[in-house]
Amino acid sequence: YRIAVFASGSGSNFQAIVDQVQKGKLDVSIELLVCDRPGAYVVERAKEAKVPVFTFRPKDYESREAYEALILKELQDRQIDLVVMAGYMRIITNVLVEPFYGRMINIHPSLLPSFPGVNAIQQAVDYGVKVTGVTVHFVDGGLDSGPIIAQRAVEIHEHETAESLAERIHAAEHMVLPQAIRLLREGKVSIDGRRVLIRS
Ligand code: GRF
Repeated sequence: YRIAVFASGSGSNFQAIVDQVQKGKLDVSIELLVCDRPGAYVVERAKEAKVPVFTFRPKDYESREAYEALILKELQDRQIDLVVMAGYMRIITNVLVEPFYGRMINIHPSLLPSFPGVNAIQQAVDYGVKVTGVTVHFVDGGLDSGPIIAQRAVEIHEHETAESLAERIHAAEHMVLPQAIRLLREGKVSIDGRRVLIRS
């Protein structure tokens, strides 16, 4: 079961997947890291984990579709079964969404549909919610809008800052994302319209 991970930043979610695989707790093969920022720390993590990397600079291409066509070829050449967006900070177009609908997931640091988009953790603190969390969902081309696979709640403490909350949010992500990948690997997830059915 061959997966590709897309990331743009530190890659702690990527690392969480690598760690689970290396501990023998997640039976997948991480075949590729796709990164739109060649200098991002996640690229170092991939080299350390001996995961092949495809990095690119969006500004070197005349359009999103142009670089996505190249990425799609990389994914197809490697016969990727599942694409995992883990902190990939670019909008993706139908060039990638279409061929992978139902086989492309994203992790987002809020309980969607609350607080989609960037700075979700700060949005939750600013709004004053008492409970936020993390969501793994299928990618459907909208912004953090696809059918939800898994969620985990994280309480917001009194006088909490976005920094202290972020640590607990990321810890939750590092549990929920590998779990969701495991369910997909085991064929226990199916979509019925917006509803995602998980067989135990
Ligand atoms: C995570 O919070 C993820 O949910 C969001 O971007 C962050 C990426 O963190 N989309 P990392 O690069 O995996 O550490």
